[in-house]
Amino acid sequence: MTDVLEEAGTETAAGTPTSPVAVVTGASRGIGRAVAIRLAAAGFQVALAARSVGALDALAREIDGWALPCDVTRPDDMAALVRAVEDRAGRSPDLVVAAAGVFTLAPVAELEPADLDLNLEVNLRAGILTVRSFLPGMLERRSGTIVQVGSVSGRKAFPGNAAYAASKFGIRGFHNVLLEELRGTGVRATLLEPAATDTSIWDPMDPDGNPGLPDRATMLRPEEVADVVHFVATRPAGVWIPFLPVERS
Ligand SMILES: NC(=O)c1ccc[n+]([C@@H]2O[C@H](COP(=O)([O-])OP(=O)(O)OC[C@H]3O[C@@H](n4cnc5c(N)ncnc54)[C@H](OP(=O)(O)O)[C@@H]3O)[C@@H](O)[C@H]2O)c1
Repeated sequence: MTDVLEEAGTETAAGTPTSPVAVVTGASRGIGRAVAIRLAAAGFQVALAARSVGALDALAREIDGWALPCDVTRPDDMAALVRAVEDRAGRSPDLVVAAAGVFTLAPVAELEPADLDLNLEVNLRAGILTVRSFLPGMLERRSGTIVQVGSVSGRKAFPGNAAYAASKFGIRGFHNVLLEELRGTGVRATLLEPAATDTSIWDPMDPDGNPGLPDRATMLRPEEVADVVHFVATRPAGVWIPFLPVERS
């Protein structure tokens, strides 16, 4: 275990450092799953949050994690998630990675209200709710790192992305306020804004068969994004990365 991980963890009564604890939402597949695997390989104890119980259980077995199924849009589920993590860890987590998300495409003139609601509810409202749920414990402890997975669509416009971009620009606005509120608290937050990444989020759009979308081969790999999350999470205390775009060279 590295010095940075020891710093992020805690100590038992006998003085032995325990593993740092990370919560990852959206851990059942895609970027969240890759993040959970990367963090576990680096020595984190990882709490896995998403709705797909089978996928979480399988991953928990693989990385010796904690499967904690929940719907991130439901405040009661989030409160139960916080309690479950704090009960198991005996403290608030060292790292929260908010990677649950959805993505639908439609021109503005054809945008279905249900798709607008879904993007705003999962990507924006639940992203905020995730931070809101874990923040009191982190503030009390005066330590911890929050990584919010935004998107390149939170700073650039792509046709068809109106609902998704509204949610991701929204999370950027939230993050800017969060940064101001966190100054001097010991808690740090990063908005990670990856470019297109080859995950199941693209499955309904068949990107390789659609000339208006990037080919999967040109996308980032979820493991590459996960590696960046690990980098952010393991900076020494006092080093803060408020924003981090991730693009393919
Ligand atoms: N892939 C990209 O090109 C790309 C690029 C930039 C940013 N991002 C962002 O990265 C994040 C992850 O995307 P991804 O590509 O990994 O997508 P993905 O493969 O579709 O995975 C989405 C994850 O979110 C979870 N999720 C969705 N709704 C949920 C809910 N109501 N409650 C709990 N969990 C929920 C899903 O789990 P369950 O279905 O099991 O609940 C799943 O684990 C999203 O915020 C996305 O906007 C993706």
